[in-house]
Amino acid sequence: MKCSQEDGENGTVVNVKLTGGYYESMDEPVTSEHGELLSLLFTATQESRLNLSPLKDVTSIFSGHADREEETMVPVLEFFRSFTGQGKIPDGDYLRIKADEFRTEEPVMLKEHREIMDLLGRMEREDGAVQLVLENLSAFMERHSNMEEYYLYPLAFHACSLIDSL
Ligand SMILES: [Fe+2]
Ligand SMILES: [Fe+2]
Repeated sequence: MKCSQEDGENGTVVNVKLTGGYYESMDEPVTSEHGELLSLLFTATQESRLNLSPLKDVTSIFSGHADREEETMVPVLEFFRSFTGQGKIPDGDYLRIKADEFRTEEPVMLKEHREIMDLLGRMEREDGAVQLVLENLSAFMERHSNMEEYYLYPLAFHACSLIDSL
């Protein structure tokens, strides 16, 4: 399904494409959540009266971690979207490189999930350290990491196998 509309005021044509219910302009969901988590981390750092060193460590680990996932897992998972005609079909050489990178990086990313949750858990247990933003951040980070480990990493491995046979 496609539709378009014209903005009457300045004549700008705004195209809204709806293809099988999918909005072409929708942000990639994992990347969006990384942005939200990073902004929560910055807020927590600014508002915290705690020792900031662990939060800065979490921010540094998470920033590299998010880049790693967006550079490896996201392109590999994107491959599934081409099955339903919703995404463009990426070139095979690119996909094979990304599949190899994902398989190499996955153990590192799992380790980073543990490190991040350990650091946040330790901060939450510190005397007087319980703050709403920290609790929200920790719960959101845990949910995000669990979703990746439960669904997305296994799916990405499956995509890698399919990419191998291209
Ligand atoms: Fe992530
Ligand atoms: Fe992650």
